[in-house]
Amino acid sequence: MRILPDANALTWAAAEYMVALAANQERFTIALAGGATPRALYQLLAADPFATALDWSRVHLFWGDERCVPPDHPDSNYRMLSETLIGRVPLPTGNIHRILGELEPSKGAYDYEKSMADFFENRPQFDLVLLGMGDDGHTASLFPYTSALAETSRWAVATEVNNAIRWRITLTLPVLNTARRVLFLVSGSGKAARLRDVLQGPLDPQRMPAQLIQPLSGEILWMVDAAAAELLTPSD
Ligand code: 6PG
Repeated sequence: MRILPDANALTWAAAEYMVALAANQERFTIALAGGATPRALYQLLAADPFATALDWSRVHLFWGDERCVPPDHPDSNYRMLSETLIGRVPLPTGNIHRILGELEPSKGAYDYEKSMADFFENRPQFDLVLLGMGDDGHTASLFPYTSALAETSRWAVATEVNNAIRWRITLTLPVLNTARRVLFLVSGSGKAARLRDVLQGPLDPQRMPAQLIQPLSGEILWMVDAAAAELLTPSD
């Protein structure tokens, strides 16, 4: 775990980490998080010094999850990426593998699985999965007490959640836990109690799905700011 002083430092540290990982890789595949936290990160990656630090033709963007809305909808994770990163760096369009949120949800999930099957030629193994955590302990669109948590064969599923946007498409644990690296970004005091529960409380993965992210052989790194970390018991 890395605890950064504030949200800005967190964003910089994440950008440096990602660029270091991607450098010198022939192909760098990343599944991106939606929501508010990573927005500043994507904006920073589109700016100097990071935008010119990467050969973007080698970078392939996937999404960890998407809301089932059209790509121009205000709640679309794709739209958030297109406002912050896509279009500001020389990413070939063929490197953008968005989830088709405009489709009927189960169709969108199958379509995403097919695009991953075509790209990875086998089970998807992302070089990096970027995840956030909701204040309820969800991550990607793996929400508490949902059937998506129990999925062991599908790579992506549609999931109905008790949220403004009822339907989402999410990568499942078989894919998320096959990643070479997982980076959690958590910021703000609003996440502090749940972060303590997830990291230092008893295992209760149905209630806190973020606890289910246990890469089989990959590395997991939590980057959090001091506000999010304020309730953690310092490790010895
Ligand atoms: C989404 C994200 C979701 C997000 C958490 C935290 O589509 O909303 O993938 O899992 O990471 O909800 O969101 P914030 O960063 O906005 O707190």
